[in-house]
Amino acid sequence: MTAAQQNSYPPARPHDPPVEVFPDVFLVRGSYRANWWLRFSRNMVVLRHGDELTLINSVRLSAAGERQLDTLGSVRHVLRLGYFHGCDDRYYIDRYGAKFWAPPGSRSEPGPAAGRLLEDGGALPFPGARVLLFAQSRHPEAVILIEQHGGLLVTCDCLQHYADRRFNSVLARIMMPLMGFPLRMIVGPVWLKIMTPEGKSLQSDFERIEQMNFDHLIAGHGSICQGGAHEKVSDAIDKAFFREKRDS
Ligand SMILES: [Fe+2]
Repeated sequence: MTAAQQNSYPPARPHDPPVEVFPDVFLVRGSYRANWWLRFSRNMVVLRHGDELTLINSVRLSAAGERQLDTLGSVRHVLRLGYFHGCDDRYYIDRYGAKFWAPPGSRSEPGPAAGRLLEDGGALPFPGARVLLFAQSRHPEAVILIEQHGGLLVTCDCLQHYADRRFNSVLARIMMPLMGFPLRMIVGPVWLKIMTPEGKSLQSDFERIEQMNFDHLIAGHGSICQGGAHEKVSDAIDKAFFREKRDS
Protein backbone atom coordinates (compact mmCIF):
# COMPACT_ATOMS: atom_id res chain seq x y z
CA MET A 1 0.00 0.00 0.00
CA THR A 2 1.47 3.37 -1.03
CA ALA A 3 1.69 6.36 1.32
CA ALA A 4 -0.98 8.14 -0.73
CA GLN A 5 -3.33 5.18 -0.34
CA GLN A 6 -2.59 5.01 3.39
CA ASN A 7 -3.53 8.68 3.71
CA SER A 8 -6.97 8.07 2.21
CA TYR A 9 -8.05 6.26 5.39
CA PRO A 10 -8.68 7.73 8.86
CA PRO A 11 -5.27 8.16 10.52
CA ALA A 12 -3.94 6.09 13.38
CA ARG A 13 -4.56 7.62 16.80
CA PRO A 14 -2.57 7.06 20.01
CA HIS A 15 -2.65 3.47 21.22
CA ASP A 16 -0.81 0.95 23.37
CA PRO A 17 1.05 -2.04 21.93
CA PRO A 18 -0.87 -5.33 21.65
CA VAL A 19 -0.91 -7.14 25.01
CA GLU A 20 -1.58 -10.88 25.22
CA VAL A 21 -4.30 -10.94 27.89
CA PHE A 22 -5.04 -14.67 27.44
CA PRO A 23 -3.22 -17.22 25.27
CA ASP A 24 -3.77 -16.14 21.64
CA VAL A 25 -6.02 -13.25 22.71
CA PHE A 26 -4.46 -9.79 22.34
CA LEU A 27 -5.87 -6.45 23.43
CA VAL A 28 -4.90 -3.12 21.88
CA ARG A 29 -6.05 -0.15 23.90
CA GLY A 30 -6.41 2.81 21.57
CA SER A 31 -8.42 5.95 21.04
CA TYR A 32 -10.93 7.80 18.92
CA ARG A 33 -10.85 11.55 18.44
CA ALA A 34 -14.34 13.01 18.10
CA ASN A 35 -12.91 16.56 17.79
CA TRP A 36 -9.99 18.63 19.04
CA TRP A 37 -11.24 18.50 22.63
CA LEU A 38 -12.83 15.11 22.94
CA ARG A 39 -10.86 11.91 22.76
CA PHE A 40 -12.27 8.61 24.00
CA SER A 41 -10.78 5.18 24.55
CA ARG A 42 -11.31 2.51 21.92
CA ASN A 43 -10.23 -1.12 22.02
CA MET A 44 -9.38 -3.76 19.44
CA VAL A 45 -9.28 -7.48 20.20
CA VAL A 46 -6.96 -9.63 18.11
CA LEU A 47 -7.61 -13.38 18.15
CA ARG A 48 -4.98 -15.80 16.86
CA HIS A 49 -5.93 -19.19 15.53
CA GLY A 50 -2.91 -20.98 14.08
CA ASP A 51 -1.28 -18.32 11.90
CA GLU A 52 -4.56 -16.46 11.26
CA LEU A 53 -5.54 -13.26 13.01
CA THR A 54 -9.10 -12.01 13.45
CA LEU A 55 -9.61 -8.36 14.38
CA ILE A 56 -12.70 -7.46 16.41
CA ASN A 57 -13.67 -3.78 16.85
CA SER A 58 -10.80 -2.77 14.59
CA VAL A 59 -8.56 0.18 15.49
CA ARG A 60 -5.95 1.41 13.02
CA LEU A 61 -2.41 1.27 14.40
CA SER A 62 0.72 3.35 13.89
CA ALA A 63 3.37 1.98 11.53
CA ALA A 64 5.24 0.58 14.56
CA GLY A 65 2.01 -0.92 15.92
CA GLU A 66 1.24 -2.50 12.59
CA ARG A 67 4.69 -4.09 12.51
CA GLN A 68 3.96 -5.56 15.95
CA LEU A 69 0.61 -6.84 14.70
CA ASP A 70 2.33 -8.49 11.74
CA THR A 71 4.63 -10.42 14.07
CA LEU A 72 1.57 -12.06 15.66
CA GLY A 73 0.26 -13.64 12.46
CA SER A 74 -1.62 -12.86 9.24
CA VAL A 75 -4.70 -10.66 9.39
CA ARG A 76 -7.42 -12.72 7.66
CA HIS A 77 -10.72 -11.58 9.15
CA VAL A 78 -12.29 -8.36 10.40
CA LEU A 79 -15.41 -8.58 12.59
CA ARG A 80 -17.69 -5.61 13.19
CA LEU A 81 -19.86 -6.07 16.28
CA GLY A 82 -21.15 -2.54 16.82
CA TYR A 83 -23.46 -0.61 14.55
CA PHE A 84 -21.73 2.64 15.38
CA HIS A 85 -18.13 1.43 14.96
CA GLY A 86 -16.11 0.46 11.92
CA CYS A 87 -14.27 3.54 10.68
CA ASP A 88 -11.04 1.51 10.42
CA ASP A 89 -12.50 -1.71 8.99
CA ARG A 90 -11.95 -0.73 5.37
CA TYR A 91 -8.27 -0.02 6.02
CA TYR A 92 -7.60 -3.56 7.26
CA ILE A 93 -9.77 -5.17 4.58
CA ASP A 94 -7.87 -3.33 1.84
CA ARG A 95 -4.43 -3.60 3.46
CA TYR A 96 -4.58 -7.34 4.12
CA GLY A 97 -7.34 -8.60 1.79
CA ALA A 98 -9.18 -9.70 4.94
CA LYS A 99 -12.71 -11.11 4.90
CA PHE A 100 -15.26 -8.79 6.47
CA TRP A 101 -17.94 -10.09 8.83
CA ALA A 102 -20.85 -8.03 10.18
CA PRO A 103 -24.44 -8.60 11.31
CA PRO A 104 -27.22 -8.48 8.70
CA GLY A 105 -28.41 -4.91 8.26
CA SER A 106 -25.10 -3.32 9.24
CA ARG A 107 -24.14 -0.04 7.64
CA SER A 108 -22.27 -0.25 4.37
CA GLU A 109 -20.60 3.07 5.28
CA PRO A 110 -18.06 3.31 6.75
CA GLY A 111 -16.40 0.26 5.31
CA PRO A 112 -17.64 -2.10 2.63
CA ALA A 113 -20.79 -4.21 2.85
CA ALA A 114 -20.18 -7.42 4.78
CA GLY A 115 -18.96 -10.36 2.74
CA ARG A 116 -19.80 -12.76 5.57
CA LEU A 117 -22.76 -12.42 7.92
CA LEU A 118 -22.52 -12.63 11.70
CA GLU A 119 -25.75 -14.40 12.60
CA ASP A 120 -27.16 -15.46 15.93
CA GLY A 121 -25.49 -18.79 16.74
CA GLY A 122 -23.95 -18.76 13.26
CA ALA A 123 -20.51 -19.39 11.79
CA LEU A 124 -17.32 -17.67 12.92
CA PRO A 125 -13.83 -17.85 11.44
CA PHE A 126 -12.47 -19.55 14.58
CA PRO A 127 -13.69 -22.44 16.79
CA GLY A 128 -14.85 -22.38 20.40
CA ALA A 129 -16.94 -19.24 20.19
CA ARG A 130 -20.47 -18.13 19.46
CA VAL A 131 -22.30 -15.02 18.35
CA LEU A 132 -25.32 -13.47 19.99
CA LEU A 133 -27.27 -10.78 18.13
CA PHE A 134 -29.60 -8.33 19.78
CA ALA A 135 -33.13 -9.24 18.67
CA GLN A 136 -34.93 -6.11 19.82
CA SER A 137 -32.51 -3.29 19.03
CA ARG A 138 -33.23 -0.58 16.48
CA HIS A 139 -30.00 -1.43 14.63
CA PRO A 140 -27.92 -4.63 14.61
CA GLU A 141 -25.43 -5.23 17.41
CA ALA A 142 -23.52 -8.42 18.23
CA VAL A 143 -21.48 -9.84 21.06
CA ILE A 144 -19.12 -12.81 20.89
CA LEU A 145 -18.52 -15.36 23.62
CA ILE A 146 -15.10 -16.98 23.48
CA GLU A 147 -15.62 -20.14 25.44
CA GLN A 148 -12.03 -20.71 26.55
CA HIS A 149 -10.23 -19.07 29.49
CA GLY A 150 -13.34 -19.29 31.70
CA GLY A 151 -15.43 -17.44 29.11
CA LEU A 152 -14.50 -14.12 27.54
CA LEU A 153 -17.34 -11.89 26.37
CA VAL A 154 -16.34 -9.44 23.63
CA THR A 155 -18.75 -6.53 23.18
CA CYS A 156 -18.70 -3.20 21.41
CA ASP A 157 -20.97 -0.52 22.93
CA CYS A 158 -23.76 -2.46 24.68
CA LEU A 159 -21.70 -3.33 27.77
CA GLN A 160 -18.64 -1.28 28.66
CA HIS A 161 -16.20 -1.60 31.55
CA TYR A 162 -14.14 1.26 32.93
CA ALA A 163 -11.40 0.83 35.52
CA ASP A 164 -9.50 3.94 34.43
CA ARG A 165 -9.68 6.86 32.02
CA ARG A 166 -6.77 5.92 29.77
CA PHE A 167 -6.81 7.73 26.40
CA ASN A 168 -9.60 10.08 27.50
CA SER A 169 -8.87 13.77 26.97
CA VAL A 170 -9.23 16.17 29.92
CA LEU A 171 -12.69 17.25 28.73
CA ALA A 172 -13.76 13.62 28.28
CA ARG A 173 -12.57 12.83 31.83
CA ILE A 174 -14.75 15.65 33.14
CA MET A 175 -17.76 14.81 31.00
CA MET A 176 -17.89 11.02 31.20
CA PRO A 177 -19.07 10.66 34.83
CA LEU A 178 -21.73 13.31 34.11
CA MET A 179 -22.88 11.46 30.97
CA GLY A 180 -23.39 8.13 32.79
CA PHE A 181 -19.93 6.60 32.39
CA PRO A 182 -18.68 5.93 35.96
CA LEU A 183 -15.67 3.70 36.65
CA ARG A 184 -17.46 0.34 36.63
CA MET A 185 -19.33 -2.05 34.32
CA ILE A 186 -22.22 -0.30 32.58
CA VAL A 187 -24.84 -0.76 29.91
CA GLY A 188 -23.75 1.96 27.46
CA PRO A 189 -26.25 4.74 28.26
CA VAL A 190 -26.07 6.68 24.99
CA TRP A 191 -26.08 3.46 22.98
CA LEU A 192 -29.11 2.17 24.94
CA LYS A 193 -31.08 5.34 24.31
CA ILE A 194 -30.45 5.30 20.57
CA MET A 195 -30.88 1.55 20.13
CA THR A 196 -34.14 1.10 22.05
CA PRO A 197 -37.19 1.31 19.78
CA GLU A 198 -40.01 3.60 20.91
CA GLY A 199 -42.05 1.93 23.67
CA LYS A 200 -39.81 -1.15 23.82
CA SER A 201 -37.00 -2.48 26.03
CA LEU A 202 -33.75 -4.29 25.38
CA GLN A 203 -33.87 -5.98 28.80
CA SER A 204 -34.61 -9.43 27.33
CA ASP A 205 -31.57 -9.17 25.05
CA PHE A 206 -29.31 -8.33 27.97
CA GLU A 207 -30.81 -11.22 29.92
CA ARG A 208 -29.87 -13.56 27.07
CA ILE A 209 -26.30 -12.32 27.43
CA GLU A 210 -26.59 -12.88 31.17
CA GLN A 211 -27.44 -16.53 30.55
CA MET A 212 -24.04 -17.11 28.95
CA ASN A 213 -21.07 -18.36 30.96
CA PHE A 214 -18.23 -15.86 31.08
CA ASP A 215 -15.80 -14.55 33.64
CA HIS A 216 -14.10 -11.80 31.60
CA LEU A 217 -15.19 -8.99 29.31
CA ILE A 218 -13.53 -6.72 26.78
CA ALA A 219 -15.65 -3.96 25.26
CA GLY A 220 -15.02 -1.56 22.41
CA HIS A 221 -14.25 1.12 25.01
CA GLY A 222 -12.68 1.27 28.45
CA SER A 223 -10.67 -1.38 30.28
CA ILE A 224 -10.58 -5.17 30.32
CA CYS A 225 -12.59 -6.82 33.10
CA GLN A 226 -10.46 -9.82 34.00
CA GLY A 227 -12.42 -12.02 36.42
CA GLY A 228 -15.81 -11.45 37.99
CA ALA A 229 -17.33 -10.00 34.83
CA HIS A 230 -20.59 -11.95 34.99
CA GLU A 231 -21.56 -10.54 38.37
CA LYS A 232 -20.67 -7.04 37.22
CA VAL A 233 -22.75 -7.44 34.07
CA SER A 234 -25.72 -8.59 36.18
CA ASP A 235 -25.31 -5.51 38.38
CA ALA A 236 -25.14 -3.28 35.29
CA ILE A 237 -28.38 -4.82 33.97
CA ASP A 238 -30.00 -4.30 37.40
CA LYS A 239 -29.15 -0.62 37.28
CA ALA A 240 -30.01 -0.01 33.61
CA PHE A 241 -33.43 -1.65 33.81
CA PHE A 242 -34.27 -0.95 37.47
CA ARG A 243 -34.50 -4.66 38.23
CA GLU A 244 -35.16 -5.82 41.75
CA LYS A 245 -31.92 -6.80 43.47
CA ARG A 246 -31.31 -10.48 42.91
CA ASP A 247 -31.29 -12.84 45.92
CA SER A 248 -28.01 -14.62 45.10
FE1 LIG B 1 -18.66 3.13 20.76
